[in-house]
Amino acid sequence: MKIKSILLLTVIICISASMKAQTPIYLNDNKPIEERVKDALSRMTLEEKVRLCYAQSKFSSAGVPRLGIPEIWMSDGPHGVREEIQWNSWANAGWTNDFCTAFPALTCLAATWNPEMSALYGKAIGEEARYRKKDVLLGPGVNIYRTPLNGRNFEYMGEDPYLASVMVVPYIREVQKNGVAACVKHYALNNQELWRGHIDVELSDRALHEIYLPAFKASVIEGGAWSIMGAYNKLRGEHCCHNDLLLNRILKGDWAFDGCVITDWGGAHNTREAALNGLDIEMGSYTDGLTSESEFTYDDYYLGNSYLKGLKDGTYPMSTIDDKASRILRMIFRTVMNRDRPWGTFTTEEHFDVARTIAEEGIVLLKNSPVAKKEPALLPLDDSLYKKILVVGENATRSLTQGGGSSELKVKKEVSPLDALKALYGAKIIHTQGYESGRPLYSSVDEIPAEVSAKLRDEAIEKAKEADLVIYVGGLNKNHLQDCEAADRTIYELPFGQNELIEGILNVNPNMVMVLLSGNAVEMPWVKRVPAIVQGWYLGSEAGSALANILSGEINPSGKLPFSFPVKLADNGAHAFDALSYPGDNVKEIYREDILVGYRWHDTKKTPALYSFGHGLSYTTFGYGKAILSERNMTLNGSIEVTIPVTNTGNREGKEVVQLYIGDEKSSLVRPLKELKYFNKVTLKPGETKNVKFIIMPDDLKFYDDKREEWIAEPGKFNVYIGTSSTDIRSAVGFNLQ
Ligand code: BGC
Repeated sequence: MKIKSILLLTVIICISASMKAQTPIYLNDNKPIEERVKDALSRMTLEEKVRLCYAQSKFSSAGVPRLGIPEIWMSDGPHGVREEIQWNSWANAGWTNDFCTAFPALTCLAATWNPEMSALYGKAIGEEARYRKKDVLLGPGVNIYRTPLNGRNFEYMGEDPYLASVMVVPYIREVQKNGVAACVKHYALNNQELWRGHIDVELSDRALHEIYLPAFKASVIEGGAWSIMGAYNKLRGEHCCHNDLLLNRILKGDWAFDGCVITDWGGAHNTREAALNGLDIEMGSYTDGLTSESEFTYDDYYLGNSYLKGLKDGTYPMSTIDDKASRILRMIFRTVMNRDRPWGTFTTEEHFDVARTIAEEGIVLLKNSPVAKKEPALLPLDDSLYKKILVVGENATRSLTQGGGSSELKVKKEVSPLDALKALYGAKIIHTQGYESGRPLYSSVDEIPAEVSAKLRDEAIEKAKEADLVIYVGGLNKNHLQDCEAADRTIYELPFGQNELIEGILNVNPNMVMVLLSGNAVEMPWVKRVPAIVQGWYLGSEAGSALANILSGEINPSGKLPFSFPVKLADNGAHAFDALSYPGDNVKEIYREDILVGYRWHDTKKTPALYSFGHGLSYTTFGYGKAILSERNMTLNGSIEVTIPVTNTGNREGKEVVQLYIGDEKSSLVRPLKELKYFNKVTLKPGETKNVKFIIMPDDLKFYDDKREEWIAEPGKFNVYIGTSSTDIRSAVGFNLQ
C-alpha cells in the first residue's frame, strides 16, 4: 500500500512538472516580459504579426486568436471613460452600464499646481477604465497652450512645459498601476484644431525641444507611459503619426521609449511612412475621424494588406514588423495579459469625492474686491447680507460634460451650479437663463435668433434690478467653435452676446460675482466693473458642489492659472505676427513667436497679461520673506539651495503655490526673461510660517542650442525670482554660473 501511494505521488508530481514545463514562456507570468515577447514572436506567422498593427473595430485592435493572445480595447480619455459605441460605427451602443464619473478637465487639474491631485486623478480614472475592461486609456493630453483660440486647450495642461511635465507624470503612473496603458496625446504640435489633419508646422529646434516636447519626454522617461498617440498635423512635411524625426529619432531613439505608437483616429496616410517611421498601431483610418463610415475593410488599412505585401516582396525590412509586433505584445503583457492587475471600481463615492476635491483645488480666484470702498471683499459670500440672489447665465444649468468631441462623457451624475447654490441658499436664489447658445454638440453660434437673445437679456436685466447680488455663470461651452474638437474658436471675446448682457446687468446691479466656465482665456472688457471673478474651467460631475464650496468659503481657493489671459488676442505671441503664424495658410504654419510662448512672450516683450500665468488669489494672504541662497557661485556639477520663508498673514488656513522662476541675464541666444523651474504648494495655518526650499541644478540653467543639438548653460549671472505668480515676484536673488 505504502509503495503504491509513493508511486502514485511520484506520477502526479511528474505529470504536473511536465505540464509546467510545457507552459509556453509567453503565457508564464513568472518570466520576464522581454522573454515572453520573444517567445510569442517566435511562434507567430508573418500574417499574425501584421494583424496586430491595425484596428479591428472603432476602438479595438486585434490579438492573436490562435495563441490565446487577446485583443486590445481602448477608450477616450482623458476626463472620464467614454460611453460605448458600436463596433464599426460612431453611433452609441446604447448600453446602460457605461454612465461614468466625469473628472475635471485637464486645465483644471493643471490649475491645482499639485501633483498629489494628478495622482488621485490617475488612480481614480485608471480604476474606472479597468472596471470598464479597457486596456488603453486615450489620454492624458499635454499639447502646449499656444493660442487661446485652440478648440482643445481644455484637454491639455497649459502653456508651460515644466508645469505640464510635473503634472502629467503622476497621472500616468497611477493609471498604469491598474494594468491600463496611458496613451499620451497628441504627439506633437497639435496646437490648433483648424486644419489639424494637414497643417504643416514649421518651428525651430529650440522651440521644439524647449517648449513643445518636454511634457511628452517626461511622460515617457519619468511617467513610463506604455503608449503614445501621434498627432494629426504634419511636422516638416511628414504627418506626425509616421514622422521619422518625432518617432524614430526622438521618441524611440533619444528617449528609448519601449511602448506603442498609436495613430490618432484616421492619422495614418501612407504605407511606406507607416511601415518605416515608427508607427505601431493604426486606428480609425478611412473615416473622417468622427462620423463617416468606410466601404473599406480593416485589412485595407495602410498597415494591413499593403504592408504585408511590402514585407513579403522585400520593400520593407522584416525588422520593422518584428519591432512593431514586439512593442504591441509588450503592451499586451503589461495590460490585458497581466494577471496581477486589479479589477477596478466604477462611479464610487470615492471617485466623486476625487472629482470634487480636484475641482475645488483647481478653481482660480482671479479677482476679489469690495463693491464699495471700506466694505470687505465680495467673496466669500456672506449670505446674511442678501435677501435675493440672482443666478444668471446658461452655464448655471447646462451640462458641460457633453459636447467637445472625443472627450465627451455620459455621466452618472453632474451637479449643476444652480442646483448646488439652491441647496446652499434655498429660497434666496432666483434664476434666469440670460443667454442661449444652442443645443450641445455641433450647433453653430448663429443659430439663435436676435429676438430670442434680446428677450433673455432683458429678462435678466429686469431680475437683476430686484436682486441684492448677481452670480453670473457663463463663459464658453463645448459647442462647435467653442471649446470643442475639430475647429478653433473664431473670436477671443465671450460668445452668445454675453458681453452686452454682462454690461446691461452691471448697469443696474454692480454686485456681481462672475464665474467663467471655460477651458480657454477670454477677453474681459467689463473686468474693471466686476468686483469678483472666478475661473471655473469644466469641472465634471461635481462642478456645482465645488463652485458652491468656493463661493461660500467652505473651501479656500488655491488654484493658479496654468496659462496667461492676454488683454487682447494680439497680445498673445502666436497672434502678434501675420496669418502664417496663426492659423497658417491652410498648408503651412510658422511658429514665429518661437520659444516665447505664453508668459515668456508677455514678460520678454513687456506686454502685460490681464491675468498672468501662475496668478490666483486666496481668502487669506501670504507674506514672503527674503530668499536666501546657499551659495553665490555655482559650477556645472554643483547645486544651490534656495530658502524662502512664507507666512500666512491672514486669518484662515490656506494653500499657497510658491513659484520659482530663473532668468539668464545675458546669453548668446534669445532667452525668455524668466522660466518656471520649480513650485511647491504649501498649506499654512493663520500666522504659520514655513521655510520653502528648492535645489537649483545646472540643468535648470540650460537652453537648447540648435547648432550643437544639445542643452547648454552659459557662464554668467542668473536671477532667481520667487513669487505668487509669474508677475507678482516677492523676492529676487542672483548667482553666478562659473
Ligand atoms: C481625437 C483623439 C481621440 C480619438 C478617438 C480623435 O478624433 O483627436 O484625441 O482619442 O479621436 O476618439
